[in-house]
Amino acid sequence: MANLALLGGNKVRNKEFAPQQDFGEEEKCLVMEVIDSKVLSGFLASPGEKFMGGEKVRTLEDLFKQYYRVKHALAVNSATAGLHAAVAAINLNPGDEIIVTPYTMCASATAVVMHNAIPVFADIDEHTFNIDPKAIKECITPQTRAIIAVHLFGCPAPMDEIMRIAREHNLKVIEDAAQAPASTYKGRHIGTIGDMGVFSFNQNKTISTGEGGIVITNDDELAKRVSLVRNHGEVVVEQYPVQTIAGIIGYNYRMTELEAAVGIAQFKKLDKLTSHRIRLAEYLTKQLQQFRPVITTPLVEGHSKHVYFVYPMKFNAAQAGISRNKFAEAVRAEGLPLSAGYVRPIYWEPMYQQLLAYGDSGFPFRGPHMNKDIFYPKGLAPVCERMHMEELLTTPICRYPLTQEDIDDFVAGIRKVLNNKKEVLAEK
Ligand SMILES: Cc1ncc(COP(=O)(O)O)c(C=O)c1O
Repeated sequence: MANLALLGGNKVRNKEFAPQQDFGEEEKCLVMEVIDSKVLSGFLASPGEKFMGGEKVRTLEDLFKQYYRVKHALAVNSATAGLHAAVAAINLNPGDEIIVTPYTMCASATAVVMHNAIPVFADIDEHTFNIDPKAIKECITPQTRAIIAVHLFGCPAPMDEIMRIAREHNLKVIEDAAQAPASTYKGRHIGTIGDMGVFSFNQNKTISTGEGGIVITNDDELAKRVSLVRNHGEVVVEQYPVQTIAGIIGYNYRMTELEAAVGIAQFKKLDKLTSHRIRLAEYLTKQLQQFRPVITTPLVEGHSKHVYFVYPMKFNAAQAGISRNKFAEAVRAEGLPLSAGYVRPIYWEPMYQQLLAYGDSGFPFRGPHMNKDIFYPKGLAPVCERMHMEELLTTPICRYPLTQEDIDDFVAGIRKVLNNKKEVLAEK
């Protein structure tokens, strides 16, 4: 009889994990206020007060302004919308280039293509899984206009180096902080170091409005442009002066009052939910030391506050004597959440492999606006590919309201699989 659940043995964990989101009386109360007001969205696409949305949207934005000590916060209906609005706000021409990591949720790069610009993928650092400044430098061309700095898994990207490169080459920096609310870098809030920061409130995020997001910035002009992109700007821009109307096509990226009501209540829990994540992650890191050198725990640089949206580890298959994929599969079979890698390197997706985004013309990758051939060969970002295919393991287990006992089960699952790996090897 096998020990491993993968081969028919008993599981380490039979119980479901408690659901993540913490919605309670405060959310209900604020949502009921909106229902009773009979105004579910306060936006109008015309000049005047309602151009900037309803009362709950503005309250949520004020909370962000205070917490992040920024001049502007603009709530939107997803971080994807926020990233697109941020890209649109910097006023690009088709074919302009934006440097971004290939190892992130797809929207970090899709937002670039949505504005007819070209994502240029810079490889990642193998210790933090974030974009590598050395690789950024190699990607800079006369067409480069911006860098999107993604704080992957809640780990701050190397902002000093990124800002230095950006200043040197006159580039804008958009921080994709979807996974990193309340994270800090050298004492500064993530999202406030670049020109704009974008957060997500989707269902899986630390605080959630179901769908939603927010853009923060200290730049008045960029804030104006984001507000126009958010709310049908082309019919308002004449009365709403910006330095140039170029590139102002508006969308409907407006947040409803219902979402903002939930967001207000959720935002008040951000620090509690973040501390919970950090506590569990630190506990897990301690427990995992027993598996060194098979498992390497995440690198947290002293100046950074990692908020562990996802807890990443590196797996050494040679030391383990079992492949990373088999190991992850066996741990999952024990009833524990563990993935081999994260999402695929973005440029492996068909849009980049076949250069097909709008119709079949190849636009924006091909066309008369382009002065070079763009292609995204396999092997473009070798570190990213190696991490994804061979070394990286990720788990979402460090989250509210899970407990040290849940982490103990996770660690027991790892121990069991490593102790019984012969069963897996014999299976072949
Ligand atoms: C790094 C990153 N960027 C952008 C997004 C897009 O967020 P949203 O779902 O709010 O559009 C996500 C969502 O998972 C993300 O993780």
